Amino acid sequence: MNHMSSGPTSTVRTVSYPPAIKILVANAKGGCGKTTLTTNLACQFARIGETTMLIDHDPQGSATDWLALRSNRLPIIDGIAATRERHRAGSTLSWRMRLTPSTQRVVIDTPAGLHGNELSDLVAQADIILIPVIPSAIDMRAVTEFIADLMKCQAFRQKAKPIAVVANRVKRNTLSFGALKKFLDKQHIPFIASLRDTQFYVRAGENGFGVVDFDRQHAKEQEEWRPLMRWLNTTISEITAANS
Ligand SMILES: Nc1ncnc2c1ncn2[C@@H]1O[C@H](COP(=O)(O)OP(=O)(O)OP(=O)(O)O)[C@@H](O)[C@H]1O
Ligand SMILES: [Mg+2]
Repeated sequence: MNHMSSGPTSTVRTVSYPPAIKILVANAKGGCGKTTLTTNLACQFARIGETTMLIDHDPQGSATDWLALRSNRLPIIDGIAATRERHRAGSTLSWRMRLTPSTQRVVIDTPAGLHGNELSDLVAQADIILIPVIPSAIDMRAVTEFIADLMKCQAFRQKAKPIAVVANRVKRNTLSFGALKKFLDKQHIPFIASLRDTQFYVRAGENGFGVVDFDRQHAKEQEEWRPLMRWLNTTISEITAANS
């Protein structure tokens, strides 16, 4: 997409922006950390100066509520409450119409229970899929089914996208990821980060913050985001190179 601007002389300069990279955060299991991962990821991008849009596809609107609490002194994140707006308008309002040409990163929160056509529609819009999972036996079994569903959906079969798993609410004496790890290895899906279980995520979630908004405090939490952002940056570079 092009943005035209004219200089002081009659020369016309054309600025072209690469398309925004869209990251879908999904897992059919409720309460595994989708909104926490989405909001923190948006903060990470905004903090390094990337024009960031948070799209909330959950009718519960937790990410939208979080954004409403965010101080305007923090790096700006734009938001679209996609499902709420659609319900209000009674039509299929496309959020893609609302992305400005300069939008660089789009982070998409999704509801629990995502499956079927709704899952396929969201996968079709995404460049990268991140799946948060709590390391409990029940959640690990559920995520195995969700990933199998995702890989079977029409949009993914038409165009496979990079997927990665993030362990969330990890306690020190946590269960091993044995069976899940074997399944992921077979599907070539990387396990890219472990986020610890701490009240800090709860407090940040209730106040419109992300881990990265605290400079020196919470060093351990900031540290655990590094491998995640490293994987994302490498994957984004690969996508950008393939698109150019
Ligand atoms: N790493 C963490 N440590 C402690 N609490 C966490 C962590 N991640 C998430 N939580 C808390 O767990 C709860 C569920 O997290 P979150 O809302 O992000 O999950 P979700 O997958 O979006 O849930 P839903 O399916 O209902 O949309 C929230 O109260 C959140 O603050
Ligand atoms: Mg949520």
